[in-house]
Amino acid sequence: MTILLDIGLAFMFAVPIFISNAVPALLGGGYPVDCYKTFFDKKRILGDHKTVQGLISGLISGIFASVIVWFMVHDLMVENYALIGFQYPWWIGVLMGWGTNFGDMLGSFIKRRIKIKPGRSFPVFDQMGYMVFGILWSWPIFKVIPWQFIVTLIIIAPLIHVAFNLLGYALKVKDVPF
Ligand code: CTP
Ligand code: MG
Repeated sequence: MTILLDIGLAFMFAVPIFISNAVPALLGGGYPVDCYKTFFDKKRILGDHKTVQGLISGLISGIFASVIVWFMVHDLMVENYALIGFQYPWWIGVLMGWGTNFGDMLGSFIKRRIKIKPGRSFPVFDQMGYMVFGILWSWPIFKVIPWQFIVTLIIIAPLIHVAFNLLGYALKVKDVPF
């Protein structure tokens, strides 16, 4: 049964990352983060799809999410993983949100350099990038992250990405199902 607990807590652990990645698609729009500026290659630095409003909504929702996760499962996490030195501060969404949105913008930066248009797919990075950067940014705070979390999240990150995008497409929040 502990494996189910590991998987459940891994999911809860990463909720701020999922939220911070999904909310910009819902609430974003308007002025672009790159201020319409181009890079040396005369292409846009990030493009129209990375907006200030999206970035801010992603960062704030990530913080809210970590406070809620903390209230819900902090004690369970400490009970199960404190022995290996794991901790989960209530403000971890600050770092998870930055990591996730930094990864998202890095993805757009790379896409613009290799001439992939905003909104077109960028395989692997689209599905995994947000999770990898969300974890990397916050890792120093956790000191250790249970290996069960890493394994679970590498498997479910692409699944959740696909599910959220299909949902966004179905609800007409997104123009493309990816
Ligand atoms: N979005 C936003 N601001 C952000 C991130 C996302 O407004 N900082 C919104 C945009 O409307 C964007 C949608 O969320 O179209 C989906 O985000 P994402 O898939 O990350 O961007 P793409 O449309 O794929 O654009 P890009 O090619 O630049 O990654
Ligand atoms: Mg996309």
